[in-house]
Amino acid sequence: MASAPIVYDRLSELKAFDDTKAGVKGLVDAGITAIPRIFRHPPDPYTPPDHHADSIIPTIDFTGAARRAELVAEVKKAAETVGFFQVINHGVPATVMSEMLDGLRAFHEEPAEAKRPYYTRDMGSRVRYHSNFDLFQSPAATWRDTLYLDMAPIAPAPEEIPPACREVVFEYTNHVQMLGGSLLELMSEALGLHRRYLSHDAGCLDGISIVGHYYPPCPEPDLTLGTTRHSDPSFLTVLLQDGVVGGLQVLVGGRWVPVPPVAGAFVVNVGDFLQLMSNDRFKSVEHRVVAVGAAGPPRVSVACFFRPRGVAASTRVYGPIVMDAAAGPRSPPRYRSITAEEFINHYMDKGLVGKSALDHFRI
Ligand code: OGA
Ligand code: NI
Repeated sequence: MASAPIVYDRLSELKAFDDTKAGVKGLVDAGITAIPRIFRHPPDPYTPPDHHADSIIPTIDFTGAARRAELVAEVKKAAETVGFFQVINHGVPATVMSEMLDGLRAFHEEPAEAKRPYYTRDMGSRVRYHSNFDLFQSPAATWRDTLYLDMAPIAPAPEEIPPACREVVFEYTNHVQMLGGSLLELMSEALGLHRRYLSHDAGCLDGISIVGHYYPPCPEPDLTLGTTRHSDPSFLTVLLQDGVVGGLQVLVGGRWVPVPPVAGAFVVNVGDFLQLMSNDRFKSVEHRVVAVGAAGPPRVSVACFFRPRGVAASTRVYGPIVMDAAAGPRSPPRYRSITAEEFINHYMDKGLVGKSALDHFRI
């Protein structure tokens, strides 16, 4: 078969890259001026963003609990349409946010020898550093390295966490968990459920992964991506993006819409599990990150995924919630009920290539 040698070549190039345990940052530090071919992406078929147009991703101000009904309406509208919104005045201290970003930046900018001991693809490890979780599954690699910290239901021991972000990550997790609780309460109400349904009854707050991405400057940013287009395998994602660099884009109506950095804001998006549980009322929308240009600076982002972890991931079954009659006419379930493990296994096998993993479980 004529294509076989190319396939084998690619695999050995992927292995060679992975074996360096130094990630994309290692390539950049070595002074490469062209991207290795494992990072080359096919041309993107969607309309690029119009950077002069105002972003259609809404910003929601959490100031003042008195506006509760209004807040529920704003969250509902965003969750049912673009699936993304930014939150300001959310109560998480600015110092904790900047220390988290700085800590992760410091980790990724340590010498390769300091990071190497953390490099693993073993999902059983609560602390994992690697480049491209789907390196061996996806058709093209992306220009970023990532540190995963599974903080709940069982956190790593402090000494297992890299010193650069050891202290702040516990405090950050507590704050983001509180914010996640508020968001899930608003979303429960938006779905016509009782306020604590998602956060307590459904356990959507129980599993927390803090995921620190580092996007080094890229010599040929137009030939690759920072993150391939995907939707999130979470209930909810709360993202802290770098205050200046930008690059996150959401696919709305066949067009890439930028999510501009907003000072002090978190970017919130609906994940696949919430789309499934809401029977498609809430939208888990595809998004991507473009690669940072050669002039830099590098981009850092911290995603907090609320997702089933631990024993719940293999035992608890999720399916479309039978809505209260008040929430509107009942519609038949559009998904079969599944465990998180089933979903994640399918998601990982597929790798980050567009098309929602949810479709696989549609009835
Ligand atoms: C993700 C993601 C966006 C970013 O981690 O799922 O979409 O800005 N991250 O890094
Ligand atoms: Ni994402």
